[in-house]
Amino acid sequence: MKCRKCGETAVINMRQHKLALCADHFGQWVPAQVEKSIHKYKMFTPEERVLVAASGGKDSLALWDILLRLGYHADGLYLGLGIDGGFDYSGESQRKCEAFVSKFESSNNPEVASPDSWTPTLHILSIPELYGASIPQAAQRVQRGRGKPCSVCGLIKRHEMNRIAHDLGYSALATGHNLDDEAAALFGNTMTWQVGYLARQGPVLPAQDGFARKIKPLCRLYEREMAAYCLVRGIDYIYEECPYSLGATSIAHKELLAELERRSPGARQNFYLSFLKAKEEGFLDDHQVPPARMHACERCGQPTTAPDLCAFCRLWVRVKSQE
Ligand code: AMP
Ligand code: FES
Ligand code: ZN
Ligand code: ZN
Repeated sequence: MKCRKCGETAVINMRQHKLALCADHFGQWVPAQVEKSIHKYKMFTPEERVLVAASGGKDSLALWDILLRLGYHADGLYLGLGIDGGFDYSGESQRKCEAFVSKFESSNNPEVASPDSWTPTLHILSIPELYGASIPQAAQRVQRGRGKPCSVCGLIKRHEMNRIAHDLGYSALATGHNLDDEAAALFGNTMTWQVGYLARQGPVLPAQDGFARKIKPLCRLYEREMAAYCLVRGIDYIYEECPYSLGATSIAHKELLAELERRSPGARQNFYLSFLKAKEEGFLDDHQVPPARMHACERCGQPTTAPDLCAFCRLWVRVKSQE
């Protein structure tokens, strides 16, 4: 297969776009797609500072690389979760983020269109060091050994990502969710008609008092495109998934959608993009929940609807009481 732009050997064929590209042209095509999404969904402006939630996986490291190549001021945040899984999953993920950012520290990297001497920073935060328990330990104590730690993990990650983005004055918090992730989430929310979630699902969640703006600049790119981008760009990432993700419903939904995609290229993209279009046209407008009355959590100050402590602080109170 030949590259549509130059006739060299193609490294990827994107059937949904009827487009095959060589390594060079694919390496340029991806950032151009991300730039389009940033403008289309008004994610942020060149003057704004963005914090990329970097997990060490392909999507978030590719995202960080793309934003830097596009000339944006993008720093990273790695949250150490203390997950081992028999292969030091968290330690390995952190090392991938550190290796990624260290490439940019040798200042004269011509690939990065950063102004004057600015180089990206990786903020690292360790949950076990800060709060005295790893995610599996915290979950074990509050769930009394039942179930996976994923919901506890989600709550802690959301709180901490928001806290750092807000406290350090970033305009937006960018996550590496790709089109496969978003389509699977949409599928899950539709299966159970979670109208509230559907009304909030999208590439941008606007800032609210105390909550940073959340953005998903990769929402129109397939997971396999992100893997290919890392390969083309020489980005080393952690291949293993979180050991607790095995058997997750979202993975089953991804597999179903992948099968649909195989039969009908572009199906997954159509599913997600037509949903966004329908939303733009007012579908679900009646289901937009008016902002709830929030007040500051007595312990951490983050907005909450609960009477005293937010869910994150309540969780740690319970974890401590089970020590
Ligand atoms: P997940 O919820 O694991 O599918 O991850 C979704 C996105 O959340 C990733 O693409 C990252 O942007 C972010 N993320 C996940 N885990 C971490 C972490 N440990 N530290 C920083 N960001 C993370
Ligand atoms: Fe949080 Fe897997 S990443 S439990
Ligand atoms: Zn080419
Ligand atoms: Zn709190």
